Amino acid sequence: MPSGNEEFVVTPWEVRGKVDYDKLVKQFGTERIDEALLKRFQKHAGELHYLLRRGIYFSHRDMNWVFDELEKGHPFFLYNGRGPSGHTHIGHLTQLIFTKWMQEKFHCPYYFQLTDDEKFLFHPDLELKDTQQYARENALDVIALGFKPADTTIIIDSMHARSLYPLAIQVAKRVTFSTARAVFGFDNSNNIGQIFYTSFQAVPAILHSARVGHNVPCVIPLGIDQDAHFRVARDVVDKMGYFKPALLHSMFLPGLQEGGKMSASDPDSSLFTVDPPAVIKRKLQNAFTGGRGNAAEQRKLGGNPEVCSVFWNYRLVFIPDDAKLQEIEQRCRTGAMLCGECKNMLIDLAAKFLSAHQEKREKARDKLDDYLLKEETAKKPSRR
Ligand code: TRP
Repeated sequence: MPSGNEEFVVTPWEVRGKVDYDKLVKQFGTERIDEALLKRFQKHAGELHYLLRRGIYFSHRDMNWVFDELEKGHPFFLYNGRGPSGHTHIGHLTQLIFTKWMQEKFHCPYYFQLTDDEKFLFHPDLELKDTQQYARENALDVIALGFKPADTTIIIDSMHARSLYPLAIQVAKRVTFSTARAVFGFDNSNNIGQIFYTSFQAVPAILHSARVGHNVPCVIPLGIDQDAHFRVARDVVDKMGYFKPALLHSMFLPGLQEGGKMSASDPDSSLFTVDPPAVIKRKLQNAFTGGRGNAAEQRKLGGNPEVCSVFWNYRLVFIPDDAKLQEIEQRCRTGAMLCGECKNMLIDLAAKFLSAHQEKREKARDKLDDYLLKEETAKKPSRR
């Protein structure tokens, strides 16, 4: 069975129904990020990132152990990735912005995996050349955000298979079909590549340890829908003598349409980093706000930022400053600012942000090689 119940289902490939996060945390057996853990972030980083302050990262596995290790003088490395089924959207950007903060505060190596194999295997309409092409495009967004090549490694699965495969088959040998079926909800219609794929997603969690020849803790900031992969991987890599990777889960991020989520394969579901100003404007003018029927009602009753996709864009990327965000929230709730004005403000902010990003993104084309994994034979890890 996929992890879920009648109300909602959450797997890496399907999120259905209205997600109850308390139930999800219980079902998955993760822990809430509590005040005590936030204090540890604060203590080591010197500040709390806005995505932690705003509860967007809300759940974890083993982060207290990570800080214990850090305090003993054993630093960690970072890993996450994305499936290149389209261009980079605001949701991916959110994850990368947070990861960049982690890297800056904790000075650690970062591995970013582009799973062109996964998206090819799971999307009937995508050819391998399409996902390979998107992988290179998505990599540009990582570089444009300012990650440094010295401590950032970009992995493209189909390109770097030679380095990943020896570790992937060691994972694969320890995952039965029955486990994969139970965790991911596979049935007889799934192709065999899909069944094997999770072993590739496990590899970067141990690759750094394998390369340096001793165990290094791994921290993975990720959407909670990806948890299933690491429930499997954590058991398996432990048996292989590696540390279990720690996880930092983010919530599902609503898209621009009512009740919808952001999807790389649906261009209207979110702003994308490659959107030109006219597209930004069109998408945001059509965005769902949950506003009232008319201006008079809105002035009287105010809006509802919780369900508003424009406000979500502020929360996630465009307004990191809490005081500014609160001011917008206040003006919305009291009816002092109407949706039209608020949308225009976002159109402005997003157009400026994205045009600066796009400039850096174009310059990144020549730099990609500096970031790609250098192929080498992995060393055998020793236990610490
Ligand atoms: N499967 C992820 C996706 O579809 C991509 C991915 C690979 C990933 N490795 C990861 C995501 C590690 C989070 C953490 O987007």
